[in-house]
Amino acid sequence: MKHVVVYFSQTGNTKKVGEVIRDAIESIAGQCDIVRMEEADIKVLGGYDLIGLGCPTFAYAEPANVKAFIRTMGPLKGKQSFIFSTYGGHPGNVLPSMARKLRRQGLKVVGGFNCDGWDHMPHYTSPWYTEGHPDEVDLKAAAYFGREMAQRSRMINGGEKVSLPKFQWLKGFYEEGPKTTQVNRPLSRDFKIKMTVDTKECRYPKCRLCVDNCPVNAIDLSVSPVVFRKGCISCYFCEMLCPTGAIEADPASVKAHQQGTIEMLLQRKYPEFFEKAKTELIDNRSTLYRMLVDRVEIGNMLTMYEEFLDKRPRYIIRK
Ligand SMILES: Cc1cc2nc3c(=O)[nH]c(=O)nc-3n(C[C@H](O)[C@H](O)[C@H](O)COP(=O)(O)O)c2cc1C
Ligand code: SF4
Ligand code: SF4
Repeated sequence: MKHVVVYFSQTGNTKKVGEVIRDAIESIAGQCDIVRMEEADIKVLGGYDLIGLGCPTFAYAEPANVKAFIRTMGPLKGKQSFIFSTYGGHPGNVLPSMARKLRRQGLKVVGGFNCDGWDHMPHYTSPWYTEGHPDEVDLKAAAYFGREMAQRSRMINGGEKVSLPKFQWLKGFYEEGPKTTQVNRPLSRDFKIKMTVDTKECRYPKCRLCVDNCPVNAIDLSVSPVVFRKGCISCYFCEMLCPTGAIEADPASVKAHQQGTIEMLLQRKYPEFFEKAKTELIDNRSTLYRMLVDRVEIGNMLTMYEEFLDKRPRYIIRK
């Protein structure tokens, strides 16, 4: 049997998990390749028996470029697959959503895994409560999952009857019920952000950070006026990498998103989130819960955010 892990990752969390899963599969099956989704060729994937697909969680689901990739996977009908994801706050429906789409393409989904991932989004406090994740514990769990996938896949291939996992769709995302999605709805809507470039501040072609790291090649700075091709997945990555602040997300939508996050925190609509933050505080791993205990401190989050808006670059890629 041949195995491969395909991943999309911007800040390296999902890549870390993917690499551990790859090593774990290799330790059981003797072989497993790994490839960035941007470089994955469906024809080449056709030569594998088990295909893992991993990505970060964007707006409680898989990013739009991953959705588009899954739509091209029809020729892999009948193959076994597994899914994995990292998330910075709440995974929402990322696994059920990916599983549903892969199954629609005719692939068998034999397992799913997700874990915390350090969230570098401009809207959040620093340190965010998933800072440092995936950590040792997450990666141990990922290795366990990888070994399980290799074994399960071998059993299925050998004709053994193995029950396939069900991925439960979370209604309204928060288990409390549909009303609470009122907080969530504006968050998702505001992910549709508009990007602009101030050509006076831009150092292109000396700098190509945004062009080279846009996951969907949406940015063309070689022409005037600058072109943002269709297909931007609203990931903020270009904006976060830009050293001068030349490329900017529409500030109104960023602010609305930030406001939504603060409201969510203030209204305590997120029981799981608070439980987890509390545990991490006990483990001395996060200061977020301490910050959330007092409304005044939450007020500071807005100030922190204003300061953050002046910080450039907001994120540096480390190899
Ligand atoms: C545009 C965008 C949207 C995101 N949406 C969510 C979300 O809905 N829920 C969540 O828990 N984390 C969300 N995150 C955080 C990422 O899922 C998390 O940081 C992930 O581990 C990043 O993976 P990577 O390092 O492989 O890129 C979002 C991040 C970005 C950039
Ligand atoms: S243009 Fe920017 S926000 Fe849009 S997909 Fe590319 S990197 Fe992400
Ligand atoms: S990252 Fe900023 S400075 Fe660099 S090319 Fe893009 S817009 Fe210009």
